[in-house]
Amino acid sequence: MKVSVVKNYDEMSKLAADIIASQIVIKPNAVLGLATGSTPVGTYQKLIEKYEKGELDFSKVSSVNLDEYVGLSPENEQSYRYFMNDNLFNHINIDKDNTHVLSGLEPDAEKECKSYDDLIDCYENIDIQVLGIGRNGHIGFNEPSTAFKAGTHCVELTEETIADNTRFFDSVEEVPTKAYTMGMKGIMKAKKIILLANGENKADAIKKAIYGPITPEVPASILQLHNDVVVIVDEDAGKYL
Ligand code: F6R
Repeated sequence: MKVSVVKNYDEMSKLAADIIASQIVIKPNAVLGLATGSTPVGTYQKLIEKYEKGELDFSKVSSVNLDEYVGLSPENEQSYRYFMNDNLFNHINIDKDNTHVLSGLEPDAEKECKSYDDLIDCYENIDIQVLGIGRNGHIGFNEPSTAFKAGTHCVELTEETIADNTRFFDSVEEVPTKAYTMGMKGIMKAKKIILLANGENKADAIKKAIYGPITPEVPASILQLHNDVVVIVDEDAGKYL
């Protein structure tokens, strides 16, 4: 793992965007694995700025997102499809047909998850996977558990994750309790992974992910087995490193 502790959120976002941009320049039809949540918003803003300056062309880029809440439609402002359109896709020249987010409205979990894994295989894997991390060490919505799950699957969100995500909803009751998430195989098959974290509340999870034992109780610890991971954290999230 290559670990960069940078001064603040802006520096973290700049470094992440520079890596993603380099990938697109050397491979215009790159497949990006994307995350939602507050962590990557700055990175997406920097990518939009590069596009607006004429430095980046997304016309041949494809994307595969990590996860989606079960039960939310793409038009729901809290859905991850809406988030991606709003925070990135609507502002760049990516072909939306080449952007993929799991369908929260598909009731047949097995069918939805299988077709997502097939899609990732079809792309011959993701070139760069962007990850945030939950306070409990989750990546995607792979929550702490007794075993790592390989394929895309449906997950019951933990109380901690529901509590953390309440900030995006009007009340805790509105937070979906289930999500579809890419599993560890899809994530670990990515050729390169960028793990981002900012803020003191992520410091413990980052320390355990990088230095702790590899255990499904800290899902991000599996990243220690990948041979090309760049961890970019601000000084607060990196305070134990
Ligand atoms: C979102 C995702 C989650 C988040 C994590 C951190 O697509 O996969 O694992 O990255 O919950 O969320 P934020 O960035 O909001 O702290």
